Amino acid sequence: MTMQNFTIAIDGPAAAGKGTLSRQIAEAYGFHHLDTGLTYRATAKALLDTGLPLDDEIIAEKIAREVELGGLDRDILSKHEIGEAASKIAVMPSVRRALVEAQRRFSEKQPGTVLDGRDIGTVVCPQAPVKLYVTASPEVRARRRYDEIVGRGGPADYAEIFEDVKRRDERDMGRADSPLKPAGDAHLLDTSEMSIEAAFQAAKSIIDAALNRNT
Ligand code: C5P
Repeated sequence: MTMQNFTIAIDGPAAAGKGTLSRQIAEAYGFHHLDTGLTYRATAKALLDTGLPLDDEIIAEKIAREVELGGLDRDILSKHEIGEAASKIAVMPSVRRALVEAQRRFSEKQPGTVLDGRDIGTVVCPQAPVKLYVTASPEVRARRRYDEIVGRGGPADYAEIFEDVKRRDERDMGRADSPLKPAGDAHLLDTSEMSIEAAFQAAKSIIDAALNRNT
């Protein structure tokens, strides 16, 4: 972080609403935004596309080092199978090291950055002046994902989505390297009973207070 650069670290489990919140914050403050989940997804997709194994750490690291942060397409990478594959390669320390290096370089952009993921406040940007941990109950998160899929006209099974959410939580919170957990100084934002607007306003007052301290 340089004198003027300001980084906002946003972590939380899958489907907690951190993506929407991060995009809104980045837009409101004119900051660059990186959804770090897309870097894990892009690595997983490149492996799947070329038929390479998902359990070979040396190959996965090589592919991770080739990921271009500028070319991450949310629509292409949002597929369920890619998310599952991403959470498998995300347990590999050398894949994490490669992607974290690229994420840290991104975090230094001027005038400021918003990074969202699982380990931003704990590992990628532990010095960030604002850290938010956005969460919601597994039931609410599964319901939101269900509504989103049905809203797009797709078929969805709530029970299956609920199991998926829990499985992903276990994998993300239970891994040895950089498990999902709030940084000691993170502000907790439980959005289970909050609208998107209410979550944004809560985040905004935390960020504004930190920006005032910084000037
Ligand atoms: O957030 P998203 O669902 O796109 O992330 C896909 C997977 O990538 C997560 O389940 C998690 O295993 C991994 N991930 C991670 N660290 C991050 C972001 C994502 O381990 N900073």
